Amino acid sequence: MRVIVYGSRADGHATVVIELFGQQAEYELIGLVDDHPENSRRSVCGLKVIGTRNDLCALADSGVEGVLLGFGAARGRADIIAAIEHAGLALPVLRHPSSHVSASASLSPGSQLLPGAAVGPGACIARGALVNTGAIVEHDVKVEQGAVINPGAVLTGRCVVGPESEIGAGAVVLPDVEVGSRAVVGAGAVVTRSVPPNTIVVGVPARVQPAQGRSATGQAED
Ligand SMILES: CC(C)(COP(=O)(O)OP(=O)(O)OC[C@H]1O[C@@H](n2cnc3c(N)ncnc32)[C@H](O)[C@@H]1OP(=O)(O)O)[C@@H](O)C(=O)NCCC(=O)NCCS
Repeated sequence: MRVIVYGSRADGHATVVIELFGQQAEYELIGLVDDHPENSRRSVCGLKVIGTRNDLCALADSGVEGVLLGFGAARGRADIIAAIEHAGLALPVLRHPSSHVSASASLSPGSQLLPGAAVGPGACIARGALVNTGAIVEHDVKVEQGAVINPGAVLTGRCVVGPESEIGAGAVVLPDVEVGSRAVVGAGAVVTRSVPPNTIVVGVPARVQPAQGRSATGQAED
């Protein structure tokens, strides 16, 4: 499959995706896509930026078949996925060989499981969601579209992580708890009750961060 990588940060998720999955025989890497014109001269692992979101249809016409999501930010993921699908491009599931996925779990297009990630029975990983290195998604958890589970986070049984929300590295979400859409759980937090949409929570137990309004990874180029 001829693929492009969406994202161009050499010190970010683009490099991770290219190193982990770009060598697989099924993918021929063509170039990078980045929405920010100021990044048009970037390159990652020898691949150059060859367009923006506006060029996806033209790239599809030129023979590109699929897109590997090469950014780690949660916000903006759903729009990017929609643009990729609108262009008729495939979003392969990227599953590292050292990850474990229960036979009864489901993985949607564009989902990514990095080394050591584990997904338990009945869990659902929706479109474009990222389960980063060593993260654990326990039984019957729902990780919704474009959510990002950062390294070492633990989602315990039946919890729900809403669309485009982000769970910080090493955080724990307790059973049955729901993290709202576009919420951010800080690194190391323990989430004991549901988190409203668009809030940032930190600490043990997790509480809403007093100074709101920012996301640690709010740029799609991360
Ligand atoms: C919680 C988080 C989103 C806050 O980001 P932010 O809004 O930019 O916050 P700031 O860095 O400005 O910090 C604001 C305050 O929160 C505190 N804080 C930041 N992150 C915290 C965390 N995880 N737990 C507890 N307190 C935290 C800071 O110490 C600071 O406190 P102060 O005002 O008393 O000095 C971010 O720090 C975080 O934890 N992101 C997760 C990132 C991650 O896991 N990335 C993995 C990529 S591979």
